[in-house]
Amino acid sequence: MTYSNLLAEVAENIMTITINRPDKLNALNRLTLEELKDSVTKCLESKEVKGIIITGAGDKAFVAGADISEFAGISVSDGQSLARNGHDIFNLIESSPKPVIAAVNGFALGGGCELAMACHIRLASENAQFGQPEVNLGLIPGYGGTQRLVQLIGKGKALELMLTAGMIKADEASQLGLVNHVTSSEELIPSTRTLMKKINSKSPLAVKEVITCVNAYFESGTDGFEKEIAQFGNCFGTADFEEGTAAFVEKRKPEFPGN
Ligand code: COA
Repeated sequence: MTYSNLLAEVAENIMTITINRPDKLNALNRLTLEELKDSVTKCLESKEVKGIIITGAGDKAFVAGADISEFAGISVSDGQSLARNGHDIFNLIESSPKPVIAAVNGFALGGGCELAMACHIRLASENAQFGQPEVNLGLIPGYGGTQRLVQLIGKGKALELMLTAGMIKADEASQLGLVNHVTSSEELIPSTRTLMKKINSKSPLAVKEVITCVNAYFESGTDGFEKEIAQFGNCFGTADFEEGTAAFVEKRKPEFPGN
């Protein structure tokens, strides 16, 4: 796949999407968001791709936010459309039945922090920094930040980070539960790939159902417990279940068909 502002490469059944505007600290302009949506959609349709890694080009930034240079002259309704578009794309990532891991290699600010939070798991390099600095601009987070940051680190810390426009380093982000693991810069992508391969060795169907049920916890009007009961039962009717249990009994590694 060829894009202007992204690199998208598949290797070992993993699609790595690299936001590629390093001279603008990988800020998300309209075209980049469009390309992100297209690349994620293609991953979801692909039989080859089992998981998605999202990272940023260069050693300075994952994504330093929405592209501020595109904000001039935006009306109230344009602003709402902009936010709606960002929400749609980040919801697509969060609800992806295939695992999505963010490899955060530097600044993850504003829309960058929000993009990382829409992913299922976050790994960060030691030089990563996280923040929602929108109040500096007279704005608020608009791509899900006010909701997902609370979900991940709790109301008090989330409010402090958003109200002060502060930045936190990878270690603190890890202590708060915003990132799962911190690595050196060199180890970031190899560690992310190792984690993804581990997930990809499991039943794709079960992986999908875990994601669905965990997301259900946060959906208003959905009873996550009921969803879990239904999906647990449904697993017994799948070829993945047949294979997983047969492999256990036969003391061999399972070869999951994914259905
Ligand atoms: N939108 C558009 N351009 C951005 C950007 C953004 N969110 N973040 C950085 N850039 C651009 C800068 O304008 C600069 O471009 P230029 O060289 O053409 O002037 C380039 O990226 C490098 O950024 P610079 O500010 O020079 O780097 P720095 O190391 O001094 O500072 C940051 C790094 C991340 C602290 C700083 O760029 C920043 O505060 N960015 C905005 C973060 C933000 O508010 N995000 C939320 C947006 S809603």
